[in-house]
Amino acid sequence: MLLVGLGAVSTTTIAGVLAIRKGFSKPIGSLTQMGTVRLGKRTEGRSPKISDVVPLSSLDDLVFGGWDIFEDDCYAAAKTAGVIEPALLEKVRPELERIRPWPAVFDQRYVKRLDGPNVKKGRNKKDLAEQVVADIRKFKADNALDRLVMVWCGSTEIFATQGPAHADIAAFERALEANDPSIPSSMIYAYAAIREGIPYANAAPNLTADIPALVDLAAKTGSPLAGKDLKTGQTLIKTIIAPGLKARLLGVAGWYSTNILGNRDGEVLDDPESFKTKEESKKSVLDYILQPQLYPDLYQDLCHVVRINYYPPRGDNKEGWDNIDLVGWLGYPMQLKINFLCRDSILAAPIVLDVALFLDLAKRASMHGIQEWLSFYFKSPVHAPGLYPEHDLFIQLMKLKNTLRYLKGEELITHLGREYYD
Ligand SMILES: NC(=O)c1ccc[n+]([C@@H]2O[C@H](COP(=O)([O-])OP(=O)(O)OC[C@H]3O[C@@H](n4cnc5c(N)ncnc54)[C@H](O)[C@@H]3O)[C@@H](O)[C@H]2O)c1
Repeated sequence: MLLVGLGAVSTTTIAGVLAIRKGFSKPIGSLTQMGTVRLGKRTEGRSPKISDVVPLSSLDDLVFGGWDIFEDDCYAAAKTAGVIEPALLEKVRPELERIRPWPAVFDQRYVKRLDGPNVKKGRNKKDLAEQVVADIRKFKADNALDRLVMVWCGSTEIFATQGPAHADIAAFERALEANDPSIPSSMIYAYAAIREGIPYANAAPNLTADIPALVDLAAKTGSPLAGKDLKTGQTLIKTIIAPGLKARLLGVAGWYSTNILGNRDGEVLDDPESFKTKEESKKSVLDYILQPQLYPDLYQDLCHVVRINYYPPRGDNKEGWDNIDLVGWLGYPMQLKINFLCRDSILAAPIVLDVALFLDLAKRASMHGIQEWLSFYFKSPVHAPGLYPEHDLFIQLMKLKNTLRYLKGEELITHLGREYYD
């Protein structure tokens, strides 16, 4: 697993896998490790573990490598992140200390609140991409690896939209040579991975691989793609609650979400340009789930506000508050308050693991390009042009499990269930 950015999410993923591998902990939150999938009719009693249905790589076979702008090895970075307790971290310390970040492709223009010494130098962005490819090939050879997966777990970059340099691969490669400012660091890593035919996922909301140039390149090289922005914390809860309210046709007049967060991610998001990238990603969710165009009386005037406040004393232990102003029968108002004391990276780590293992499976099954069945894991699921993204967690889960059934040649489950009564 190639991880760009060895911060809180990456180190919690790596230390977690090592601890689970040694039997110190359980892989709670991971579908690939604990999930089951029903096969056949409800009367058949067949609900095997997902890992017994599709051939996923075993945790014992995973090797980790990555880039960061700081020189700290994974043990030191995990200590800085402060997510995993020191006692557990000590048990996997030697393995973590062996993982040292390679120099990063980094430009402060795209992440204003960050600066570090472990950074590559190059003639232009094309040259930097070639250096990333060289790192990847060396890692593969040194560890005698068969396959690779890359996940961007780096900081959230400033807001960007699609431009001419992103239109096709020829324009993109010219832009790399010309040091075009519309190519941020994250796109350079994504280009390197996809050109090598490596599956690529984006854990952050940056545009990155969600551009025609890289989607086309992925089709040519056979890279599966997934993203963007891991669905953890407040947005996870939102996509659990909102489908329920809509299912019962309860109106929503307002949804106010606020968070306090004290880790480095929170510090980066304190910059308005990085926050805008995150805000766009968080806000689209409700519109798609509630479908105000179909239900104007219920959702047309919904006031949706999202705030993130950087508050160092909390570290990675984010606290989120949601106030939902509901409207019921005859227009009577009601309120729902949610106070979620979560741990950001504890929610994110099983997702990084699952996405990596499922993308590797997709690669072996010759499923290239955008993997919409992995929308389950993301706040802003990537999707084909002309389609709207599916945000409802339960539809996403059904899609994921049906994809696994499809890969296995099993009957898809529609939940019609007439046969039990005929
Ligand atoms: N934790 C969650 O629940 C969650 C959920 C959704 C998305 N995310 C996103 O995942 C990303 C990582 O989150 P985190 O909490 O681990 O943040 P973090 O700040 O702890 O880690 C990010 C790391 O990336 C490094 N980095 C930044 N730019 C880089 C570059 N160009 N090349 C290499 N390394 C680079 C930083 O130095 C840092 O060590 C963020 O973008 C965050 O918004 C996190």
